[in-house]
Amino acid sequence: MTKLWGGRFQKSAEQWVDEFGASIGFDQKLVMEDIEGSKAHVKMLGACGILSEDDISLILSGLETLKGKAAAGELEYSAANEDIHLNLEKFLIDEIGPVGGKLHTGRSRNDQVATDMHLYLKNRVSEIITAINHFQQAIVEQAETHIETIVPGYTHLQRAQPISFGHHLMTYFWMLQRDKDRLQESMARIDVSPLGAGAMSGTTFPIDRQLAAEHLGFAGVYPNSIDAVSDRDFIVEFLSNASMLMMHMSRFAEEIILWSSEEFRFIELDDTFATGSSIMPQKKNPDMAELIRGKTGRVYGNLFGLLTTLKGLPLAYNKDMQEDKEGMFDTVHTLMGSLPIFEGMVRTMKVRTESMEKAVASDFSNATELADYLAAKGMPFRKAHDVTGKLVFTCIQRGYYLKDLPLEDMKAASPLLEEDIYETLQPRTAVDRRNSFGGTGFTQVRIQLDQAKTLIEK
Ligand code: ARG
Repeated sequence: MTKLWGGRFQKSAEQWVDEFGASIGFDQKLVMEDIEGSKAHVKMLGACGILSEDDISLILSGLETLKGKAAAGELEYSAANEDIHLNLEKFLIDEIGPVGGKLHTGRSRNDQVATDMHLYLKNRVSEIITAINHFQQAIVEQAETHIETIVPGYTHLQRAQPISFGHHLMTYFWMLQRDKDRLQESMARIDVSPLGAGAMSGTTFPIDRQLAAEHLGFAGVYPNSIDAVSDRDFIVEFLSNASMLMMHMSRFAEEIILWSSEEFRFIELDDTFATGSSIMPQKKNPDMAELIRGKTGRVYGNLFGLLTTLKGLPLAYNKDMQEDKEGMFDTVHTLMGSLPIFEGMVRTMKVRTESMEKAVASDFSNATELADYLAAKGMPFRKAHDVTGKLVFTCIQRGYYLKDLPLEDMKAASPLLEEDIYETLQPRTAVDRRNSFGGTGFTQVRIQLDQAKTLIEK
């Protein structure tokens, strides 16, 4: 088959060589973006008097036909036509005749492919933001139900201080909020049009780049034609934001996995988000959470893959850059799979408040309360820490907890300790009294939830 660029060639490559160079196997995902880009380009050529009205309407109707066929899955792509851009141009010429060849006036595949990817990411990023919002909604619902559910809070995976389970869950809300903000802010770099940059240096035709950009709904155009076709920062930035988002989901997934173990028993995943074992009949595995944790690795890989591809590339376009797409598609696919799964998992999980209560009733996570009690009565905190530490040691030796320590032992450690210490040591009291701004006290968690709700409604 003769190539659309075949003029200066005497021989054609063999099929297996074509196949190696082709991107049609994956860039066909950009079919709609490519058609939209072509429509905007051709309308602009018309408005600038570069092509006649007759040519414009023929090309536009041809592109509409292709759009219908693409939607119906009727386009038969071929590796001989390399990529989505040449495949579509070939289809257009087949559809409307040689006039189809006028579409590429004042344009190159280099600005075309960059335009396609800007359009693609612009749409996908806003879908991802919506999916994060839904996930956050599920977190808020669970958190609201469990404002007054007390769990041990951990540092070093050792019980640290009792906290509200709602407060713990809301931590993930705020991580996701930052992820959403980052994606939103990255729009400033995504929502820019490279179209009209040509191969690298612009064009001799009197084009209007702003007009084409307006047709596509872009907020602006690249000021430098070489930058327009060489820049892939916006994809790296997306992959980096996606990696951060996956990292957050992976941390949450890890907790879901721990909490559903028999050792913690803090939650039970709904049957619809868990799996069984082919051999062990008793098993209920948190596969979905594990997969999200696992898929974090591939998204990091996509980020590092592209950074490495771009490192050392001279200006402007290089074929290496064709390697920018699969990682981007894979990352979008991974996020759009993981976010709704996580949302469903959180929305349907059963919180085992009884086990949580049992956990905080039998630990030393209230030791800070005792130290704070002494410090509030004037003992230097460092001394209070030591006195409390010694009482903890006594309890460990006797095999019980601070709340079981008789008042006479308390008083022997410090006369400042009085009967009301037992109320102070109650996990519920301990949590509710942490009423500093942003703390785990119930009032603070309610304030936090109110703020959070205004952020997802926006
Ligand atoms: N398939 C190519 C890519 O994805 C399109 C741009 C090709 N440009 C070129 N000069 N070969 O990067």
